[in-house]
Amino acid sequence: MEKLRFRLADPAEYPALRNLILESFAPITWFRQLDEQFGPLNGLDWRARWQRRLDDVFRTQIILVGESGGVILAAATGTADVASSLGFIDLLAVDIRHQGGGIGRQMLEGMLAHFRSLGMEHANLECLSGNERANRLYLSAGWTLVTSSHKWFIRL
Ligand SMILES: CC(C)(COP(=O)(O)OP(=O)(O)OC[C@H]1O[C@@H](n2cnc3c(N)ncnc32)[C@H](O)[C@@H]1OP(=O)(O)O)[C@@H](O)C(=O)NCCC(=O)NCCS
Repeated sequence: MEKLRFRLADPAEYPALRNLILESFAPITWFRQLDEQFGPLNGLDWRARWQRRLDDVFRTQIILVGESGGVILAAATGTADVASSLGFIDLLAVDIRHQGGGIGRQMLEGMLAHFRSLGMEHANLECLSGNERANRLYLSAGWTLVTSSHKWFIRL
């Protein structure tokens, strides 16, 4: 199994990371389900909306990458709240060509180690209930399921 090395991303790498994250989430994102039911929102399809979401992520979050042999195979993004010593993982993404081989588990651990290095004592994240692979990963990595929620939508 490839052993990942972790470091913060260089902004020059953001375009490549956008592709990695977008392609990784393409099969499971609810943005896409929304398009299937309601069509694009004001002309923006799910990819365009993800690009906007990622603009925000790159501007405001910690961007950690996991690489092997100089190639980025995964990324995790999130924020750290010093007051509550709580880290929040927003995105965890493994290159679609490398999923299912233990990379995601390593990337998750890498992000937790990074949070610890920032003084965080806890971490949380949100995951769609239908994302079986990811939920199984969190369960087997010792996370506790606290609650679950529903996504609602209405056309105005
Ligand atoms: C979810 C994701 C990060 C997991 O990374 P990965 O490299 O594919 O997963 P790993 O090989 O590290 O496997 C970790 C665990 O996930 C589960 N898993 C892996 N492949 C699976 C599959 N095909 N079906 C169900 N569970 C699976 C297993 O519990 C596995 O642990 P195990 O192999 O010790 O049993 C990755 O698949 C991904 O990027 N998916 C798309 C984006 C996403 O869903 N991100 C998380 C959103 S919260």
